[in-house]
Amino acid sequence: MNINKKLAVIMAGLPARGKSYLSLRLQRYLEWQGYRARIFNVGAYRRESLGPASSKSDFFDPRESAFSRERERIAKRCFADLAGWLESGGEVAIYDATNVTASRRAYLKDECERRGFAFVFVENICDDPGIIEKIIWIKLEHSADYTGFGRDAARADFTRRLGHYEGVYEPVSDVAHMKIINFGLSVVRAYGLGNPFLDEIADFLGAVNLMDKEVFLTRHGETYFNCEDRIGGDSPLTDKGVEYAGRLAAHFKGRDLVVFTSAKRRTIETASFFDCERVVLPELNEINSGLCDGLSYAEITEMHPEVSEARSDDKFNFRYPGGESYRDLIQRVKKAVIRIEAEKRDVLVIAHRAVNRCLVSYFIPTPPEEVPYIEMPLDRIIRIARLNAHYGCDWKVI
Ligand code: SIN
Repeated sequence: MNINKKLAVIMAGLPARGKSYLSLRLQRYLEWQGYRARIFNVGAYRRESLGPASSKSDFFDPRESAFSRERERIAKRCFADLAGWLESGGEVAIYDATNVTASRRAYLKDECERRGFAFVFVENICDDPGIIEKIIWIKLEHSADYTGFGRDAARADFTRRLGHYEGVYEPVSDVAHMKIINFGLSVVRAYGLGNPFLDEIADFLGAVNLMDKEVFLTRHGETYFNCEDRIGGDSPLTDKGVEYAGRLAAHFKGRDLVVFTSAKRRTIETASFFDCERVVLPELNEINSGLCDGLSYAEITEMHPEVSEARSDDKFNFRYPGGESYRDLIQRVKKAVIRIEAEKRDVLVIAHRAVNRCLVSYFIPTPPEEVPYIEMPLDRIIRIARLNAHYGCDWKVI
């Protein structure tokens, strides 16, 4: 981690501003990179501790002092668990709660400082009625608070709850924070940011949006190097590879799409028949095979038997001499992940075997040791669609 302390990412914002959604996405992004990241959701603690009666809007009425005390008690208990987890091996804890008052935030700040945690507040602000309406309905559909409510009753009760929060809401200031406005329309970084890890988190959270886009991955068409079983290099396509490129473009014709390629000749040639926007992203270049670049697998075994052996022992962590490992590659490919997240159109990535494996493992959680073995043949399109539109991070590979 580029930050040398345990980190608490503390959400803030009115209900239905996307805090839980961003929390889930951030957790996925961090876990994919190997961080121990966990979400602590105050609403879940409340439901578990007080049951369904606490889901009604009355419970959030700031004039009801007994309820206010209960809410504070639960928020503190949830934070105490978060702190215990960070102190016993966790790395990044995401505190998913409204935290709309300055006094609550002062408590959380003091606790973080007292315990020696780095912290940042992430305030989610939405003033776009279309986005708010979309999130409200996602929440009413998915939140355990509204199971058993009719649609209209849920909406009316939620509107009352929102009103209670709006009455006490104080925007975040004076502490290290970022403001994510209208799902990444703009990102304000303030007060003490400038740390590369926090900046990366701001870049990621500012990229995530609610579009129902699909992501497609493919490898480039066949190359002369493929025919000789050689890795790396910058070989052009064979006739068969060119034919695949033509068929690929025909397959996607008419779709509102952006195509991302690596900076290698073989992916750029594969994209050449597309008439939509094409963007070259060098971070999608194939794993750097260092000393072994341009060699066939048979030559590697013969010339560098120690490389073949070490690689088969632990393919995820194995770093080619002078090159990269899969673990390294994830650190490079994450820039492309942020580009993909930020897109509002469907995305086709034309890249390489190891790169596409890393990308699949971002969308579909995969144990690191299995990542280098994800099936990734030439001449196939992998379609990644969101299972649970809008809400979770559940994706499927088709
Ligand atoms: C909740 O109880 O649902 C949220 C608590 C809060 O953060 O205000």
